[in-house]
Amino acid sequence: MEFNKIIQGDCLEVMQQLPNESIDLVVTSPPYNLKNSTGNGMKDGRGGKWKNAELVNGYSHHDDCMPHDEYIKWQRDCLSEMLRIIPNDGAIFYNHKWRVQKGLLQNRQDIVSGFPVRQIIIWRRKGGINFNAGYFLPTYEVIYLITKPDFKLAPKANALGDVWEFKQEMKNPHPAPFPVTLIDQILSSTNAKSVLDPFMGSGTTAIAAILNNINFLGIELSPEYVEMAEKRIADFQSQGRLNFKEKEIEV
Ligand SMILES: C[S@@+](CC[C@H](N)C(=O)[O-])C[C@H]1O[C@@H](n2cnc3c(N)ncnc32)[C@H](O)[C@@H]1O
Repeated sequence: MEFNKIIQGDCLEVMQQLPNESIDLVVTSPPYNLKNSTGNGMKDGRGGKWKNAELVNGYSHHDDCMPHDEYIKWQRDCLSEMLRIIPNDGAIFYNHKWRVQKGLLQNRQDIVSGFPVRQIIIWRRKGGINFNAGYFLPTYEVIYLITKPDFKLAPKANALGDVWEFKQEMKNPHPAPFPVTLIDQILSSTNAKSVLDPFMGSGTTAIAAILNNINFLGIELSPEYVEMAEKRIADFQSQGRLNFKEKEIEV
């Protein structure tokens, strides 16, 4: 397996070409289908006051507005592939966001039911998420920890608890980036030597992998975001990882 690169393409098609049990860990945040979510201020363009509400326009090559059933099937197919690719001690950290359908909470059970969900981690963000005044301001996202039976946390990682607070990424031009610190904490909580992000976006998982001396493989549909990620990785590598750890610069 050739690591440390980003493949431009559709992640389901690319994952179908990857061998069984070939990558230790998957860390990912898929498109949330937010534009087909009603009642959270996104669908009608009132993404509003949030600086990073570019998501109101979807992604450069994915409009984030699939019919609901099609979206659920797609995500379940993606999760099945991720599960096939990880070994018996592997895990998937699958980040998702609250959505609303016809004014009612959509709890994602239709995506994850039947998958071996071991735990849910709450990612508490500083400040709120795109919202509608009729709802209490949502302040967290969830990360499903989906594992094969022999998965173990790194020593002492359990002390981190299951509510993690990280401020959201504000400087990244991608519409929905992870904070590097969040992925750094995920990777350092495992014993993984390799990580796949099938929705790589701006390359955050790659940056965190480099910080943790872990091999990465990314897949991303948008050629623009692949270019963005590759540039970010190259810039980061020229700055050096010690620099990042010591000065906590944002990348
Ligand atoms: C929530 S964003 C991921 C952001 C990423 N975590 C980061 O830190 O930048 C989801 C990404 O999935 C990509 N995407 C959408 N459809 C895809 C597909 N079929 N295959 C691969 N990537 C896809 C979008 O272009 C977008 O960059």
